[in-house]
Amino acid sequence: MAQMEMVVVVVVVGSSWLVYRNSCKYVRLLLSPFFPSSKTNNFDTSTRRRRHLLHHHRHLSLFAKSIKQQPHPLPLSVSVSTPPSVLPKDKDKDRDKDSPLSGLEDVMMGYIFGKKKAIQVAHSVWRHLVQKGDTAIDATCGNGYDTLAMVKMVADKTHCGHVYAMDVQKVALENASSLLDESLTSDERGLVELFAICHSKMEEVVPKGVPVRLVAFNLGYLPGGDKALITRSETTLQALEAAKRMLAPGGLISIVVYVGHPGGREEYEAVQAFASGLPVENWICCKLQMLNRPLAPILVLVLKR
Ligand SMILES: C[S@@+](CC[C@H](N)C(=O)[O-])C[C@H]1O[C@@H](n2cnc3c(N)ncnc32)[C@H](O)[C@@H]1O
Repeated sequence: MAQMEMVVVVVVVGSSWLVYRNSCKYVRLLLSPFFPSSKTNNFDTSTRRRRHLLHHHRHLSLFAKSIKQQPHPLPLSVSVSTPPSVLPKDKDKDRDKDSPLSGLEDVMMGYIFGKKKAIQVAHSVWRHLVQKGDTAIDATCGNGYDTLAMVKMVADKTHCGHVYAMDVQKVALENASSLLDESLTSDERGLVELFAICHSKMEEVVPKGVPVRLVAFNLGYLPGGDKALITRSETTLQALEAAKRMLAPGGLISIVVYVGHPGGREEYEAVQAFASGLPVENWICCKLQMLNRPLAPILVLVLKR
């Protein structure tokens, strides 16, 4: 029995010592690149060891950064030149609090670094502009994801906000209706109306004189649906003209255009010609396009001054 106790004590002491020794070794390894002439560096100066260590440091830096950036939708930076402890967390918080572009800034950086899609940038721009109680139009309702996002942006306790969504496909409106039923409260659901019409007829369903903050187009075909049923340049242009007439000053026409399907490029050129031809005194028009991904969706933004 006494012998067994002795063995247990030896094992416990032995393993604690090993843990302690390895911890010291790790800490010294970790510190040696920052203190090249210090004692810590005498521990092991071989090139292989140093590489191993730098590799560890890099991983730790990235890991620490990703934890720090949890509240942001995207880890923005992958730089490892500055140890994370040097960046004060509060400074980041202040930036988010003070900047009127917070959120939009992150999604734009995400787009630039190839991590966010054009439609995500579009949603972020809408969110930046649309206020509670506003009226918005989803000109291509499809499965209802854009409509849902719009309802969340306009919905408030006064039940003033409103979203008019339209599509020429019955199946699209059914999908959208189910999505909205599942995702919205009954009050929010009451703020959205779905119409089985062509978007060129949007003036027929939106009451005259209502100030419209946003008209959004997500062109092309229904995801998961019939790829032959696409938006067409002619009706898209008529709808854009209608949107132009209905939009309130300070309002936005947002168009996500797809060029990868037959007819897509012609439609994009028509949209681009429409936006390019608007007078600069009244309109601010721009586009976001990936230059070396010729089939990537393009975001065209048309803002009424
Ligand atoms: C890319 S999808 C829209 C995606 C949708 N916004 C969403 O969040 O799921 C394009 C939609 O435009 C619809 N569409 C095609 N021509 C149209 C027209 N003339 N008027 C209204 N919608 C049309 C299609 O039926 C299709 O559902």
